[in-house]
Amino acid sequence: MSARIDWTSTRSAGLAGELVVPGDKSISHRAVMFAALADGSSTIDGFLEGEDTCATARAFAQMGVRIETPSASRRIVHGVGLHGLAASAQPIDCGNAGTGMRLLAGLLAGQSFDSVLIGDESLSRRPMRRVIEPLVAMGASIEAGEAGLPPLRIHGGRVLRGIHCRPPVASAQVKSAVLLAGLYAEGETEISEIHPTRDYSERMLAAFGWPIAFGAGWARLHGGHRLVATDVVVPADFSSAAFFLVAASLVPGSELILRDVGLNPRRTGLLEALRLMGADISECRRRERCGEMIADLVVRHAPLRGIDIPVELVPDMIDEFPALFIAAAGARGTTRVRGAAELRVKESDRIATMATGLRALGVDIAETPDGADIVGGVVGGGQVASHGDHRIAMSFAVAGLVAAAPVRITDCANVATSFPGFVEMANGCGFGLSSIGA
Ligand code: S3P
Repeated sequence: MSARIDWTSTRSAGLAGELVVPGDKSISHRAVMFAALADGSSTIDGFLEGEDTCATARAFAQMGVRIETPSASRRIVHGVGLHGLAASAQPIDCGNAGTGMRLLAGLLAGQSFDSVLIGDESLSRRPMRRVIEPLVAMGASIEAGEAGLPPLRIHGGRVLRGIHCRPPVASAQVKSAVLLAGLYAEGETEISEIHPTRDYSERMLAAFGWPIAFGAGWARLHGGHRLVATDVVVPADFSSAAFFLVAASLVPGSELILRDVGLNPRRTGLLEALRLMGADISECRRRERCGEMIADLVVRHAPLRGIDIPVELVPDMIDEFPALFIAAAGARGTTRVRGAAELRVKESDRIATMATGLRALGVDIAETPDGADIVGGVVGGGQVASHGDHRIAMSFAVAGLVAAAPVRITDCANVATSFPGFVEMANGCGFGLSSIGA
């Protein structure tokens, strides 16, 4: 357990600079997983040195995969092949990472050995039935704790069969777990989604040489092939860039350049939402790298207005709502969010955590079961609890930039799960963020 850290964020006179935020979390998790299961050695550049992704790398080291760290953000993964993993002597600790646990559940369901997956307090409260149910339908044997919560005990040595499924939630983690089990299954595995989600697993499987057919909202593969080592360059994480997009939009006089940001269309809903609110964000040097679109984003201050967030954007900005709520608090008029009930089962209940925090800063916000109405206006100072949720902590750090008095944010240590070095990078471009070990 990390020691408790609190932050104080103070008003800013303007943000300026060029930033490269850390590597994409979703892609970093998957790169380690697929490289570990490939034949041969893969180099990953731009790997996120966050606690979540390092936990995934540790999981594979525990299962006998040699992973070198020649320099920060670089990994060389010596793949052991699809059937080369060994049982871990200890339970595998996924830390705070839902992606780590859910994808590993699919992958481990196809092994010849038993595994146990555990997580921190937050992960131990997150629903796992959504992955257990399709995996059990494929023939997996998985026991969870009460109400389908972690820890997960996965019994190996099962014969998996391909399935055709349509999960009731739009979740890239569920889709990826099913596809990973599908690598080990007899016959065809096909998944169709109620709304298209990020397709990193599909793209990366193809890059590692696995025959896969996929399009927006569906993917299909057969078991029984092999993965071939491939080098991966991870783009900067749009979700980490998001805090700076909102910050520079809100603080008068700001201009920031965010380099090499991944712009997978299933991730960039916030960009569209902010533009609808009046944000001034342009893209330059748009190009493809390792099969993903990346670009530099230039964001300048612009007055924002409240909008109804289009429901079809919700899955494409599912991790960005804490930042969006801050943009809404600093906008003129009311922003309405609906169709976002998934926020209640993220690292914290993000609707409740944001509503309580914003109210503590004097913002008028009404919760609904699947969203909120946020009335923009003056943001005051005060103390807010992040509940150990990294994205909540960073979002309130942004709120402090435009608040009438300092904003104290408690329990910020988990920011290291997705954005190591956030305080230094933020202060380097004009935040006034101080960190206190409590
Ligand atoms: C992720 C998928 C999303 C997202 C999470 C990362 C992934 O979760 O919120 O941060 O890497 O597949 P869901 O699949 O639960 O929506």
